[in-house]
Amino acid sequence: MAEKFRISRAAVWKQIKMLEREGCKIEAVRSKGYRLVTMPDIIVLDDVKHELKTTTIGKDIRYYSEVDSTNTLAMKLAQDGASEGTVVIAETQHGGKGRLGRRWFSPRGNLLLSIILRPVLPTHKAPLITLLGGVAVAAAIREHLGIAAGIKWPNDILIRGKKVCGLLAEMSAEPDSVRYIVLGIGLNVNMDSRLAPAEIQGMATTLAAERGGIIDRTRLFAELLAQIDRWYRIFCENPEAVLSAWRNLSVTLGRRVAAVGQDGTIEGVAEDIDSEGRLMVRLDSGVLQRIASGDVTIRKDTKNE
Ligand code: BTN
Repeated sequence: MAEKFRISRAAVWKQIKMLEREGCKIEAVRSKGYRLVTMPDIIVLDDVKHELKTTTIGKDIRYYSEVDSTNTLAMKLAQDGASEGTVVIAETQHGGKGRLGRRWFSPRGNLLLSIILRPVLPTHKAPLITLLGGVAVAAAIREHLGIAAGIKWPNDILIRGKKVCGLLAEMSAEPDSVRYIVLGIGLNVNMDSRLAPAEIQGMATTLAAERGGIIDRTRLFAELLAQIDRWYRIFCENPEAVLSAWRNLSVTLGRRVAAVGQDGTIEGVAEDIDSEGRLMVRLDSGVLQRIASGDVTIRKDTKNE
C-alpha cells in the first residue's frame, strides 16, 4: 500500500488506525499487509454525493451523529433561509417526533432524515406533500430492494402489515399559502427490533428483517433522495399523478376501516382519497365522510365478505 500510494508505512498505519476508530474491523498480518474484515454500518456522505443526480433534493446535505430531532433542526434551518432540497440526516435522535404528538424510536442503524421543501401551494393542499413522500419511500423500497411495500392512509409504509416507515410533515404557512414544509422520514433499516419499546413490538418491522440481511444504508439513502426528487418534480407539474400513484400503492382503499374522530368512532369502507388527500369513507348509512387527519384502523372485511 505504501508503494502504491507513495506514502510511508507509518502514514499507512495512521490511516488504518483512523479507519478502526470509525468502526472498520481490520486484520494486520506481519510483512503481508492489512485485510478489511467488516465495514461499520455508517452513512458515507461522499458516496451519496458522488451517486446523486438529483435536480433539487440533496444539493445540501447536513449530516449529524446525534440530534434532538431532524425535523426540529430542519425547521430552524428553513426559517433561517436554507434552500429548497436541503436534507438533514442523523444517525440517532434523542427527541424523535412521531405523528399525533407521539415519540419516534430513533436508534442507530435506521434512516432518520428531514427535507426542506418550498412548494408553491395553497395551505389546504399541504397534506399532499406527505402523500408524495409515502409514494417516494414505497417506490425506493420496491425498486431498490424488490420488497412489496404498501401505504396505509395517510402515510405509514407497511410491509406484510407491519410498519417500516413513518412520515411527519411540519410547515410554516401564510393564511393561504405554504412558506416551507419539512418532510421528515423515519425508515427502519438495520435496527435491532428487539430493543424497540413494547408498544411497537410486533407492529413494526425493518428492511433488514424483511430481506434477511444488513442493508447498505448509503445506497438506500441515495436511492431515497432520487425518488423524492423524482416524485417532487412530478408533483409540481401534475399533483394528480401523485394521487394516482398513491392509490395504486394503497393498502387502505377498498378496505373496511375505523377512525376515531371528535364525535366518536366511525366505521365504513375506504373508497378513495380526494384532491386534498382526505380519506373518503362510505359509512354503513350510505353517507360519504371525509377524514383529514388522524389514524385509521383496517378492520376485517366482515361487511364485504
Ligand atoms: C409517524 O409517527 O409515523 C411519523 C414518524 C416520523 C419520524 C421521522 S424520523 C426523522 C424526522 N425527525 C423527527 O423528529 N421525526 C421524523
